[in-house]
Amino acid sequence: MTERHVLVLAAGKGTRMRSSRPKVLHRLSGCSLVEHVLRAADPLRATTTTLVVGHQAEAVERELGATRGGLGFVRQEQQLGTAHAVLQTEPLLAERRGTLVVLMGDAPLVSPTTARALAETHDRAAAAATVLTATIERPYGYGRIVRRAGQLAEVVEEADATPEQRALREVNSGIYAFDLAPLFPALRAVPEAGPKQERYLPGILRRYREQGLTIETVIAADHEIRGINSRHELAEAGFLMRHRKNEELMAAGVTIVDPATAYVDVDVEVGPDTVIHPGVILEGRTSVGARCELHAGVRIANSAVGNDVTVNDHSVIVDAEIAAGARVGPFAHIRPGSSIGEQARVGNFVEIKKSVLGAEAKAGHLSYIGDAAVGAGANIGAGTITCNFDGSEKHRTTIGDEAFVGSGTQLIAPVTVESGAYVAAGSCITEDVPAGALAVARGRQVNKEGRAAAMRRKNADSAQG
Ligand code: UD1
Ligand code: CA
Repeated sequence: MTERHVLVLAAGKGTRMRSSRPKVLHRLSGCSLVEHVLRAADPLRATTTTLVVGHQAEAVERELGATRGGLGFVRQEQQLGTAHAVLQTEPLLAERRGTLVVLMGDAPLVSPTTARALAETHDRAAAAATVLTATIERPYGYGRIVRRAGQLAEVVEEADATPEQRALREVNSGIYAFDLAPLFPALRAVPEAGPKQERYLPGILRRYREQGLTIETVIAADHEIRGINSRHELAEAGFLMRHRKNEELMAAGVTIVDPATAYVDVDVEVGPDTVIHPGVILEGRTSVGARCELHAGVRIANSAVGNDVTVNDHSVIVDAEIAAGARVGPFAHIRPGSSIGEQARVGNFVEIKKSVLGAEAKAGHLSYIGDAAVGAGANIGAGTITCNFDGSEKHRTTIGDEAFVGSGTQLIAPVTVESGAYVAAGSCITEDVPAGALAVARGRQVNKEGRAAAMRRKNADSAQG
């Protein structure tokens, strides 16, 4: 098989993004633009994968270095055009032979299947260059494909195009396969062009045509070749990416009530017969089991949700685990480091932080559970609060299996309520409660007969005075 190499161009500034971040690190459905591009190239099984970086090169190298191995980086100090960018890899690739697949760091929608089709067509045709093209409704901004007798003759950039050429709707994706043998000499011969005197990579095609070398084209679906140059195009690409993900999930047996408002990142997994209601956001590395019900406005990020879980409306779950059969929300907040046990119940306006709730434990209403371990079957009454912070340090609360904590209890951590203990409602617990004990920690009530009227008079007097 022909040896393959991959090159991703990612040195440009992305001026039209008006951003302090490099364009290729902007995020789309949970990954950076350039990560999407690298994923499309994965099935090419390239011998080398190189990125040309320049603008904020360190940031791009740092992020990709942290998430991926096996990448080479080449610096393009001045961004003098896409042909100039490829030329920077000459010291690395000049001695290599085979196919170089060039991808644009800002064209993240290309699919792995299409990248493979490009390389395979190129190798089969033994072409000098193969260009991925598409016919699109609004070709503005793209290089236009000019054909003669059906053959690609040249690519004309927007700025250099005649009115007739601007009307052409077949455009250059910026994605190519090149035979390495004639590539670098030809790149060096590409003239400077356009308003910024750049050296355009498509310039090489005209030269190949003149030399009688074979140029192939592969035609892709229009949505695969979109380049991202502005926030508007970023949003459009997001729409297309979500559509693709939602179709995939529905084909695998997930019900999505309104796909237009389901925001599911590319790496999210969802099991069959789960129902996703409107306005649900599933982010990052999240997995949701089978037969779950995710109600309106739920956001789940980087979390693992088991089978048969119900998450009621407007709950937020971040960096947490929810075991099978649990019920969460509405309006619950499960924060990082939390684990909700099987069949457990977390109700309205309950916030759980860095805490474990055992199987079948319940915290139904208006509570804060932080830095706590709550045993299996324990019951946390409405309005219970773990007072975990003393102003300088966090402390832990431990609640044993089957313990009952009455409503409105404050647990001043560090403190332990042992298994089966019972805490009376309204208690302020400052000391450990032994297993099976009843703790009552509140002021005694005093009833003063007939004194209500006197109290009202006094209040009325002071209101007047
Ligand atoms: C480019 C193509 C155009 C094609 C379009 C598809 C050229 C001259 N034009 O135009 O035919 O229709 O993509 O999206 O190639 N880059 C560098 N170094 C540079 C310049 C650019 O690394 O000196 C990188 C950018 O970071 C970017 C990519 O190359 O990832 C494309 O550059 P961009 O300036 O966006 O080119 P377009 O004008 O979109
Ligand atoms: Ca572009």
